Amino acid sequence: MKARRICDGVQWMGYVDWNRRLFDALVPLPDGTSYNAYLVSGTDKTALLDAVDPAVSDVLMRQLENVERLDYVIAQHAEQDHSGAIPTVLERYPHALVLCTAKAKALLIDHLDIPAGRIQTVEDGETLALGGKTLRFVHTPWVHWPETMCTHLAEDRILFSCDFFGSHLATTDLFAGTDPYVCEAAKRYYAEIMMPFRPMIQNNMKKVRALEFDFIAPSHGPIFDHPECILSAYEDWISDRVSNLVVLPYISMHGSTEMMVSYLVAALAERGVKVQKFELSTTDVGKLAMALVDAATIVIGTPTVHVGPHPSVFSATHLANALRPKLKYAAIIGSYGWGTKAVEQIAALIPNLKVEVLGTLMCKGLPHEADFAALDALAETIKEKHAGL
Ligand code: FEO
Repeated sequence: MKARRICDGVQWMGYVDWNRRLFDALVPLPDGTSYNAYLVSGTDKTALLDAVDPAVSDVLMRQLENVERLDYVIAQHAEQDHSGAIPTVLERYPHALVLCTAKAKALLIDHLDIPAGRIQTVEDGETLALGGKTLRFVHTPWVHWPETMCTHLAEDRILFSCDFFGSHLATTDLFAGTDPYVCEAAKRYYAEIMMPFRPMIQNNMKKVRALEFDFIAPSHGPIFDHPECILSAYEDWISDRVSNLVVLPYISMHGSTEMMVSYLVAALAERGVKVQKFELSTTDVGKLAMALVDAATIVIGTPTVHVGPHPSVFSATHLANALRPKLKYAAIIGSYGWGTKAVEQIAALIPNLKVEVLGTLMCKGLPHEADFAALDALAETIKEKHAGL
């Protein structure tokens, strides 16, 4: 794709990666992604905001072919999907300087061997005049690494936000418009990438809200030309509010855990509690992460393998702990053949989840009447805890 005009003196550059299906060899990308860079041309100076993944640096270099002079590369984030092509850009423009936070400088040197002499650090709130276009750097740590910042272009009322407000979405649309699917993709992105940093994002949201802009231009996915929808969505996701929702990741080997899970799901539904159930041999872990953004309760269902939880449950529980969702309650149910330490091992996996444990129930072999009664009691407790949500 060629460079695209956003407004006078501001162009989108980058690469729409329709075929990428995995990020960090971990995160599923059902809709691909994009690596957005932005060229801001003032009357005196020109700056490139972020670059692209190094695998597609040739695409960015072709888009820059007619740009004779580049004065600055603004590195808002040191992760390679945005910074990886910077060394190639610096080779083409030997007088260009990289501008970034002090933490980003160290990371760019470590990760990309960019010479320290080519990097100049910028303070929070510092401005850069390009001639009719003024960039203000706003330090926003932990969206997504500790060094990240956003950049505000006052004259054109654009906030360049890099990963913040991004979405892994390949599309020919330059602008998101009011397409609700973009917000859905942004929620998946928040769940998978940003959720562990919720307290820091709360602070960053206050800084962003103090700025005046009509566009949010992230470095993944389309540009928000109706930014209030993504801003209010983020405010909801990062708030302390949880919803009347149970997330239930589970797996079953010989059917006992499946019977317990099915019974509990029905018992919760009868009591007006919404459940999202994830069978872990087939589930999209991105969907599981999205459900964790809002859920009040997690119920983990596992059979016993070599005394511990099933490896798929181990992995999903580890992921839930790493994402630090705002869950308030948890329970563990499942089954075993002759002995089990699955509950103890799962409990040890979730130190980051500040949850009240509402119950644990491990069944030897098939569940019987007393087990179903215990599941009814668990459903009743969850209903009572969710009252008012
Ligand atoms: Fe899109 Fe944290 O990189």
